Amino acid sequence: MSIRVLIGTADQELASQLRMQISELPEIEVAGVESGSGDVLGIVGSHPELDVVLVDEEIGPQPGQELIREIAMRRPHLAAVLLSGRVDEEVLSRALEAGARGVLGRSPSLEELNARLVAVAEWSRGMRRFLGGTGPSAEEFSGRRGRLVALAGAKGGTGTTTLAVLLAVAAAQAGRTVCLVDMDLQCGDVPSYLDLVHRRSIADLVNVAAEINGAMLADALFVHESGPHVLLAPAEGERAEDVTSLAARQILGALRSRYEVIIVDCGAFMTEGAVTAVEMAEQVALTVMPDLPCLRAAKRVAHLWGRLQVRKADEVSVVLTRQSRKNEIQPDFAARILGIPMTKATIPPAFRALEKSINNGALTRVDDDAFHRAVIQLGGELGILPVEPGGGTRKGKAADK
Ligand SMILES: Nc1ncnc2c1ncn2[C@@H]1O[C@H](COP(=O)(O)OP(=O)(O)O)[C@@H](O)[C@H]1O
Ligand SMILES: [Mg+2]
Repeated sequence: MSIRVLIGTADQELASQLRMQISELPEIEVAGVESGSGDVLGIVGSHPELDVVLVDEEIGPQPGQELIREIAMRRPHLAAVLLSGRVDEEVLSRALEAGARGVLGRSPSLEELNARLVAVAEWSRGMRRFLGGTGPSAEEFSGRRGRLVALAGAKGGTGTTTLAVLLAVAAAQAGRTVCLVDMDLQCGDVPSYLDLVHRRSIADLVNVAAEINGAMLADALFVHESGPHVLLAPAEGERAEDVTSLAARQILGALRSRYEVIIVDCGAFMTEGAVTAVEMAEQVALTVMPDLPCLRAAKRVAHLWGRLQVRKADEVSVVLTRQSRKNEIQPDFAARILGIPMTKATIPPAFRALEKSINNGALTRVDDDAFHRAVIQLGGELGILPVEPGGGTRKGKAADK
């Protein structure tokens, strides 16, 4: 199949010169020429079969580098190449940093053009194969099965979303492929914590859930610059009902065959989607604040899952959040009240640092060492981050299903 290239430039002369050169290359075809950055993004969004985008650094209104950054975020497996009047180390490193796969001069030789386009298109196709454009049986093909960790709140406001986001970012930074799923279907908070806007959500996958392929996922997911890919909750809360158990099972199954780590924020309200995630997960972390009403709520939720045969209470791990020595209820006492396994890691309060991170944009790093260490330790116990020395669980190992 020939390599499909989109050209993004407002320079008519450059466009026709590239068109002419490419017409001499039998393996490569021009899929289109767009003169504005918005049009390039439109085509990129609607044409999953593209292999390469050539971006003129002088395209407007968005500058070339920024456009490439945007393309890399929306379609991480599409190869963007910057066309620059100057090709040197500085230009190259800035382009690569923005997410380009390379840089070409504005008047490349035919060989240069051919070699560069073939090389980046091969990379792009390899990536798409990795993401699994092969249909619903990708798991059988690859035999891979990612680790699914569900986080749920005993009540709202216990820090579930905060932890889900920070664990996803930390796992991605540790080199894992990570998908963060916002399964708090009625009041998903992930977009505001990660400072992102995206129109697609899990609801868009429901109708195709039985036959999800890589291209559909790539379309629905948002690629966050901090690393994780994000599947959002629907913007309209009433669409929560569309996500049935069957659809959730199929969607999470498709993610599991493509990512090493899947983190699901289930919120505190148990929809069918959230319950399915709790049922399927290798690990379930139930966030609890150290006060009696919250501990009782946690007990209730865990026993409800048990009665519904979703998950046994001893296969749930409770995480104490905003835990400090000043609290009246300390972890050992909480463990006695709960009678459910607890993680050894407890999350300290970090009001100021969290507020500051959130106000500064995306919640990807919290400037509080004790809090940060606790999140990393929790990630170790949940099996999604390398285990820190001294890690472990209060009552044996964190409950793995
Ligand atoms: N460890 C913590 N210390 C202090 N504040 C926290 C902590 N964890 C979360 N918060 C704050 O509590 C609020 C609710 O957190 P969030 O993660 O949205 O909870 P949930 O998803 O369980 O409803 C947010 O304002 C958040 O910044
Ligand atoms: Mg939440």
